Parts: sequence; structure tokens; C-alpha cells
Amino acid sequence: MTYIHGATDSVETARLEKQARFLSRWILDGFDVGPGARLLDLACGVGAMARRLRARFPDAHMVGSDLSMAQLRAARSFTSDADGPIPWVNADASRLPFRSAAFDAVHCSWLLEHVPQRAMVPILSEARRVLKPGGVAQFTEVENESLAFWPRLPLVEDLARALWKAQQDGGGDPIVGRKLYGLAMQAGFRDVQVLPHTFHLHAGSPYGYFRGVLEEFAEILESAQDTLKDPLAERIPEAARMLRDLQNVPGSSFTYTFFRARGRN
Ligand SMILES: C[S@@+](CC[C@H](N)C(=O)[O-])C[C@H]1O[C@@H](n2cnc3c(N)ncnc32)[C@H](O)[C@@H]1O
Repeated sequence: MTYIHGATDSVETARLEKQARFLSRWILDGFDVGPGARLLDLACGVGAMARRLRARFPDAHMVGSDLSMAQLRAARSFTSDADGPIPWVNADASRLPFRSAAFDAVHCSWLLEHVPQRAMVPILSEARRVLKPGGVAQFTEVENESLAFWPRLPLVEDLARALWKAQQDGGGDPIVGRKLYGLAMQAGFRDVQVLPHTFHLHAGSPYGYFRGVLEEFAEILESAQDTLKDPLAERIPEAARMLRDLQNVPGSSFTYTFFRARGRN
């Protein structure tokens, strides 16, 4: 699989950290674990959400796992042990090296968009296997067809489509969010809840939100600068500028929906 966001360098690490800081207010809304809970951040990447989880649940025992050694190395070097060490475990999400019922909760963000269709149910089933009976898993995923701007930005829209196509051609799924309910049911989760979150942000939104979401998407485009094999790729800086400038256009708006699915073992 080609990782559409490019190499695990300091720019990508900083992007994931900023993304987690901005989005965790929504991703973690209503996600709860009890004191002393064992919590797995599955496909933790550079540890951006694991750090947010530890800050939110300081008395939980966190473990992070990911397929990529490069991401785990970045996670290790960016995470202070002062608030409790996080073991970083190298593992494929469909074959976890943990015993059954090892965790009270599993958190996972932005993994399934990067894996082939055939791996999705095995990954969810493996997350369920490592959960205690009654334990909760939460998966957060993209729904990229939901992206819309006003006024329309044809260059940004064309680039976004090229990016989602590249992701699909590489075996990923840019609209996996809408499939989460079916996947979680197939994996045997109970009490499955799907929680869409729609941003509808505009110049009148509370301070920082509109700018924050435009910055987030501009950085997603920029992260594909070296991996996107499309003639439009050279216009990414121009498109990113247009996105950031949208906040200064009277009447402008940005809409996007991502999905979370929560299920119980
Ligand atoms: C977009 S990053 C998300 C990282 C993190 N969850 C976050 O929200 O910042 C996707 C991560 O999934 C990992 N990944 C991809 N396929 C995987 C697999 N089969 N098993 C475990 N991790 C995988 C990649 O290495 C990458 O770190």
C-alpha cells in the first residue's frame, strides 16, 4: 500500500500532531474509559492520538501499536515518559500480538482508509478479540465524498478527487466512513453506534474553527505533494493557498463529515 501522506518525516509528524490536537475534541467526545483501564491505540502512527488519550485519561494504561517501524520510532521520540511510559508495539492490526481480552478499550483513528477491503473485517475482529467482554472499540474514519466548499473551488476539488483516486488505486478506501456500521456488525460487535460528525464552518463560526479546518485540509493536500502522480500535483501549493484564503471570502463555508463507530465486545 502507498501511504498517500508521504514519508514519516518531521513535517508529516507535525501534521499528524496538529490534526490530533484539532480533531480530538470531536473524535474523543463521549469516548470514555474507567480508572486504570487498559487502552490500546491501534494504528497509533506517530502517537498523536495516543498522547491526547493519555492526557484525557491519565490513569489509563496506554499501549500503542502500528505496522510501521518508522512511525513507531517517531512516536517514541516525540512522547515524553514523564506522564507514564507508553509501550509502542510493532504489529499488523489483523494479527495483534496481544492475548485475548487484554484491553478494556480500543481506540483507532484513520486506519481503515489505508487498508484493502479484504483486511477490514479481520482488523475489526482482531480488535474485538483483544477486548474484554463488554469492552468498547471506537473507529474513526473518513467520508471524503462529503467535502464541499462555498464558493466552489474547482482546482481544490479536482485535486481532492485526484488524491482520493490515488488512494483507491493504491488499495485504500476514501469513503470507508459510510461502511463502518456494516463492517462492525460483520466483525461481531454488539450495540454498534455510528456517530457522523459534520463540520459546517463559515466566517461566523466560533473563533479559530473555520481557520483550523481549512488549515487541516490544506495540510492534507500538501502532504500528498511528493506521492500524488498526477499533473495537477504541481498546483498543490496554489490550491492550499486558495483553501487558506477561503476564510477571508465573505459568505464562504466548508462542509465535511467524518464517521465514528463504537461497538461493544
Ligand atoms: C493516517 S495514520 C493515523 C495515525 C493515528 N491513528 C492518528 O490518528 O494520528 C494511519 C496509520 O495506520 C498504519 N497502518 C496502516 N496499515 C496498517 C496495518 N495493517 N496494521 C497496523 N497499522 C497500519 C500506518 O502505518 C499509519 O501509521
